[in-house]
Amino acid sequence: MIRYGVIAVATALASMGSALAQSALERGTYLMASIVACGNCHTPQTPNGPAPGMELAGGTRFDEGFGTAFVPNITPDVETGIGKWTDAQITAAIRDGKRPDGTIIGPPMPIALYRGMSDEDVTAIIAYLRSVKPVANKVAKSAYKMPLPRTYGPPVTTVASVSKAEKVAYGAYLAGPAGHCIECHSTPGPNGTPDFVGKTGAGGLSFNGPWAPASRRTSRRTALARGVTRTSSGRSRPACGRMASISSRRWRLPTTRTSRRTISMPSLSTCEP
Ligand code: HEC
Ligand code: HEC
Repeated sequence: MIRYGVIAVATALASMGSALAQSALERGTYLMASIVACGNCHTPQTPNGPAPGMELAGGTRFDEGFGTAFVPNITPDVETGIGKWTDAQITAAIRDGKRPDGTIIGPPMPIALYRGMSDEDVTAIIAYLRSVKPVANKVAKSAYKMPLPRTYGPPVTTVASVSKAEKVAYGAYLAGPAGHCIECHSTPGPNGTPDFVGKTGAGGLSFNGPWAPASRRTSRRTALARGVTRTSSGRSRPACGRMASISSRRWRLPTTRTSRRTISMPSLSTCEP
């Protein structure tokens, strides 16, 4: 009788445990395939979409005003990825922009917004990261032209979830900490970082990217090599149209104001649905 009881409790606990673990992984899978999409930066891209077998294996290069950033491998590979990192260390990387060795993670990873990511979602994302196939891929170190901040702020201890029932608040959470839409779509302030106080969603940030319509072959290849995909999609302009083949899967965004060397972020407040 006692024995039966112990087994029953143990079975109940085990199935509760796996139900919880499964729901974190399910939420993580949903977030990573949609709004959070760390893979938009961390997975290398090809003309046909994400490079097969390379999910989250890094290597994409960003050349912007801040210098050259190489996106690291965040698969569970022990040597070249984050396989040795604890959950707390991964959480600190996402929300505090700090690696286990104390160094600071630089742009364009949107740390300032990720600071507001809920405990629940960080846990879910970590569950997903642990489920990905380890890939051995050594990535070069970034070289920034300017000093990185010593810190993004005091260590984030806990962030409560926003209720989906509060539609506006949950939407702000999705467009901010989860999806960082407003990182690109807000007008840069005097120091070049987005002005979230008066200009959230008002557009105007420029990327000097490889999106040029001229000398199409090279620019396309360069663009793809850099994996900068989801910011261009274009209905009519040929270079953007090609880039759309990669980006449109998740990001079907109409083209605006594409110049030869620069793409400007449209204002979200004037978007048509
Ligand atoms: C806009 C591009 C971008 C997005 C989106 C992004 N990252 Fe990053 N991430 C980077 C870059 C670039 C670095 C390296 C910066 C540097 O070299 O200092 C980095 C660094 C990291 C590191 C440190 C790894 C190491 O070995 O140094 C981790 C962990 C990480 N990102 C996880 C994530 C997770 C998890 C997400 C999604 C929640 C995410 N990143 C979203 C660009 C991005
Ligand atoms: C990495 C930067 C970046 C992020 C993050 C980003 N966007 Fe954009 N978005 C752009 C760029 C660049 C364009 C214009 C592309 C073009 O001209 O073809 C654009 C275009 C758009 C447009 C079309 C607007 C118009 O007037 O043409 C909408 C709507 C939009 N984005 C919504 C979003 C939403 C919602 C999110 C978050 C889920 C988001 N964006 C995240 C860079 C970004």
